[in-house]
Amino acid sequence: MKALIWKKGGKIELAEKPDPKIKKQTDAIIKVTRSSICTSDLHIIHGAVPRAVEGKALGHEFVGIVEKAGNCVKNIKEGDRVAVNCITYCGECWFCERNYINNCQNGGWELGCTIDGAHAEYARIPYADKGLTKIPDNISDDDALFVGDILSSGYFGAELCEIKQNDTITVIGAGPVGLCAMLCARLMGAGKIIAIDINEERLKFAKELQIADIIINPQAQNTEIAVKSHTSQRGADGVIEAAGTNESFQTAWKIARPNSIVAIVAMYEENQTLPLPQMYGKNLIFKTGGVDAIHCKKLLELISERKLSTNFLITANYKFDEIIEAYKEFDTNKNTHFKIAITY
Ligand SMILES: NC(=O)c1ccc[n+]([C@@H]2O[C@H](COP(=O)([O-])OP(=O)(O)OC[C@H]3O[C@@H](n4cnc5c(N)ncnc54)[C@H](O)[C@@H]3O)[C@@H](O)[C@H]2O)c1
Ligand SMILES: [Zn+2]
Ligand SMILES: [Zn+2]
Repeated sequence: MKALIWKKGGKIELAEKPDPKIKKQTDAIIKVTRSSICTSDLHIIHGAVPRAVEGKALGHEFVGIVEKAGNCVKNIKEGDRVAVNCITYCGECWFCERNYINNCQNGGWELGCTIDGAHAEYARIPYADKGLTKIPDNISDDDALFVGDILSSGYFGAELCEIKQNDTITVIGAGPVGLCAMLCARLMGAGKIIAIDINEERLKFAKELQIADIIINPQAQNTEIAVKSHTSQRGADGVIEAAGTNESFQTAWKIARPNSIVAIVAMYEENQTLPLPQMYGKNLIFKTGGVDAIHCKKLLELISERKLSTNFLITANYKFDEIIEAYKEFDTNKNTHFKIAITY
């Protein structure tokens, strides 16, 4: 099969690899039908993910059709159209039993990182009963494409905030993850959503699609004052940080009202410091995390019931044969694309 592999120094190439085979009877083989490029794929190519294994097929955001299922796979069968969880998890270890699947002792982020991933014609999915969810018939591959990664991450961020009815939730970063977090926060009962980004177009987009009620550009106004002006001077009832810069990290604790939760879903390239003397008395709860993507079935149901939609995130389409061009485009013009979809 053809697979997009990466090499040290940032080179990517379409290479020929043997078709994947069932290794354990809990595995399934997927024929990939649609995938997307994630910021994390770029991190790997840039050499910023030390655990990533050179020469593996990239990609971990995808849907496909079950080509073959091992004898122990019960929940899905050959021919099923499935959404794939970006996290591989056994479902049985101490962490999985408590739904902390990101820390699965037998899995974690493997696809497209330590084992071959989605930017190939076929992919082997370990623990297929956990990692694959059947896609309802009334939704398309594009509808389901982001369920296993960024939509789960947005949901996770909103969930971390423990949102109560009519809360004002502020999301820093109106990129794909931030927008997904806003959609999910709304579903969880947020009364007002404030989007913060330095990209004016992304902010306008969030407002026009009514994903956010209020937009704030820190380069145009004082964010802390602006958030207070929309929250009776209290600050936000919950903050989801999905931008990942030194500035956005500081903004997160500043705009949170005392006794609220700051949920960090962004990945930083540098250490961050909390100025505890300045923060004294804010009594904040900070939560950090790599996504525990345990809600794929529920998210697919919400999409199927038309209560949730993420198709608008697809801003370009490429064929699998053109995937190198797609990577170049995403890497160099990242801010003009939310997500690039690859068709096989
Ligand atoms: N926790 C997880 O499991 C998980 C999963 C997926 C992605 N992520 C992380 O989530 C983050 C967001 O992902 P994405 O794909 O949406 O990325 P993105 O780069 O498309 O979006 C980030 C947004 O933040 C904005 N931004 C930059 N600096 C800012 C500032 N100072 N104030 C306000 N906004 C600012 C950018 O303009 C951009 O729109 C990334 O760090 C990514 O690695 C985490
Ligand atoms: Zn990803
Ligand atoms: Zn486990």
